[in-house]
Amino acid sequence: MLRCLAIVALFVATQSTALLAQTSPEYGDDVYKPSMGQAGKDVIWIPTPEALITALLTAAKVTDKDIVYDLGAGDGRIPIVAAKQFGARAVGIEYDADMAELARRNARRAGVEQKVRIITGDIFKESFADATVVTMYLLPDLNLKLRPLILKMPPGTRVASHAFNMGDWEPDQLLSVDARDGYLWYVPADVEGTWAFKEDGWNTEGTLTIVQRYQRVGGTVTIGGKTQPVLGPALRGDKLTFAYNDGDGVLRAAHVVVNGREFKGTLSGRGPGNITITGMRR
Ligand SMILES: C[S@@+](CC[C@H](N)C(=O)[O-])C[C@H]1O[C@@H](n2cnc3c(N)ncnc32)[C@H](O)[C@@H]1O
Repeated sequence: MLRCLAIVALFVATQSTALLAQTSPEYGDDVYKPSMGQAGKDVIWIPTPEALITALLTAAKVTDKDIVYDLGAGDGRIPIVAAKQFGARAVGIEYDADMAELARRNARRAGVEQKVRIITGDIFKESFADATVVTMYLLPDLNLKLRPLILKMPPGTRVASHAFNMGDWEPDQLLSVDARDGYLWYVPADVEGTWAFKEDGWNTEGTLTIVQRYQRVGGTVTIGGKTQPVLGPALRGDKLTFAYNDGDGVLRAAHVVVNGREFKGTLSGRGPGNITITGMRR
């Protein structure tokens, strides 16, 4: 009971006064009418407004190539928007069986039943491993419970959350729509450690040593026995950018894609065009 009250209080504290005034809109259909704030397994039901859904999925650059999973899908509105507006395949996981049935009916009514699948189940038991985009409107502690699983997903998987963050994993993008917060993250590749790299065609070899905390990266580059701080390193998903001064003091900017123990990409600064840079984790 205490937890239930705390959850309601936390939600209320994060909602705009506009939402709180919104006690009367009717949800559902002739078969089932959920009420705003009704109990759920781990969190109550409050729907995300469509404007924020569209903004989050736009920020996540959802396309028809994506598989979007909404964790705690409620009446199915996020998977439905993902399918209808963005052409994605979408899956909703919803514990409440009546709500899950309503979501299926809503998907049918929206004409996207071929693209939307609703699983009646628990987000902590059902797999969402094939998601390329994960959405959620849960609670801070539930986000943190999901975080280790999410961080093991393929680099570049996008994660969008309404209202709640992921603790010390900073978002890559913050949104605000009608005074509601949205957060977007890209699952970062694991790049920590030492990499031997080579500028193809130039016989330049070096070592890149990276320290990493989520998408935040720093480190050093060593060429010809001289070590310097790596300049402007940035990581988004599997895309790593970094720069360094070569032995002649010329700035080289690398844009590489990390694939497990290897990276490959282009290096600017050698003559008119880019050349290839490859790296291997030691
Ligand atoms: C705040 S609502 C969000 C609904 C929808 N995602 C949206 O943004 O409109 C959270 C939903 O999660 C569901 N839920 C709570 N705990 C769950 C769990 N462990 N597994 C699956 N669904 C859950 C609730 O029944 C509720 O429908």
